[in-house]
Amino acid sequence: MSYQTLLTSIEDGIFVITINRPDKLNALNKTVIEELSAAVDDVYSNAAIRCAVITGAGPKAFVAGADISEFLSMGATDGEALARKGQNMLFNKIEQSPKPIIAAVNGFALGGGCELAMSCHFRLASDNAKFGQPEVNLGLIPGYGGTQRLVQLIGKGKAMELMMTAAMIDANEAKQLGLVNYVTTVEELIPKTKELLSTIMSKGPNAVAKVIASVNAYFDSEQNGFDAEIKLFGECFGTDEMKEGVGAFLEKRKANF
Ligand code: COA
Repeated sequence: MSYQTLLTSIEDGIFVITINRPDKLNALNKTVIEELSAAVDDVYSNAAIRCAVITGAGPKAFVAGADISEFLSMGATDGEALARKGQNMLFNKIEQSPKPIIAAVNGFALGGGCELAMSCHFRLASDNAKFGQPEVNLGLIPGYGGTQRLVQLIGKGKAMELMMTAAMIDANEAKQLGLVNYVTTVEELIPKTKELLSTIMSKGPNAVAKVIASVNAYFDSEQNGFDAEIKLFGECFGTDEMKEGVGAFLEKRKANF
């Protein structure tokens, strides 16, 4: 599929999704949200895609936030609808994807950009990356899950501080806080992301999907995470994948999933 605001490619099972509005620092307008949603549908349904990376085009930004130019004419009902639609059609869908979706943050990740990165299963950042939730500068709060996922990732006190002060933090501080897993040079960002994804792709894909579902259950108020884990653990048994993984161990060979 071809997109107006995204560049996409599938390389060795890795779907690389590049948000491509560098002149607007890859801000998330309506079209970007809709196209990202369609791209994530592709992750779910296309057997040639085993995992995905989301990154931004150009040297400056991953995503500098929701597109502020769409905001001024909006009232309370529009604002609520924007947040609900975005959360349902994109951010929650990324988080719940059965295939890993990783953010490669290559510059500003502000507002909706930080929220987009946080909805991914984990994050890598290049050393020029900057993170923040600056919505209070605009008389707004995060609306794409930021108040929830930032707390989950870095804890309540620091999340409160960042969201109340609108402060930007650099990649190294983001790593210290647990917001990103690795900091690389700009050049190494995509290769390092692909290296991690290659490792993940050598594991059982059904088991990887169940890790995602079980970890997500911890944060889902309608589920008991321990019960979810018990059920998902049980579902792994008897699968061809489990027979191959356990069989390979017992036969002292490498599993071929
Ligand atoms: N929405 C819409 N347009 C945006 C944008 C956003 N979130 N962020 C940047 N842009 C646009 C700018 O308007 C500018 O467009 P123009 O060249 O047509 O005027 C272009 O992207 C480049 O941005 P600019 O501000 O000139 O770059 P900078 O290097 O001086 O500053 C930032 C970079 C990220 C600090 C600054 O762009 C910024 O503060 N952006 C908004 C961040 C934000 O509040 N995000 C949360 C939104 S809820």
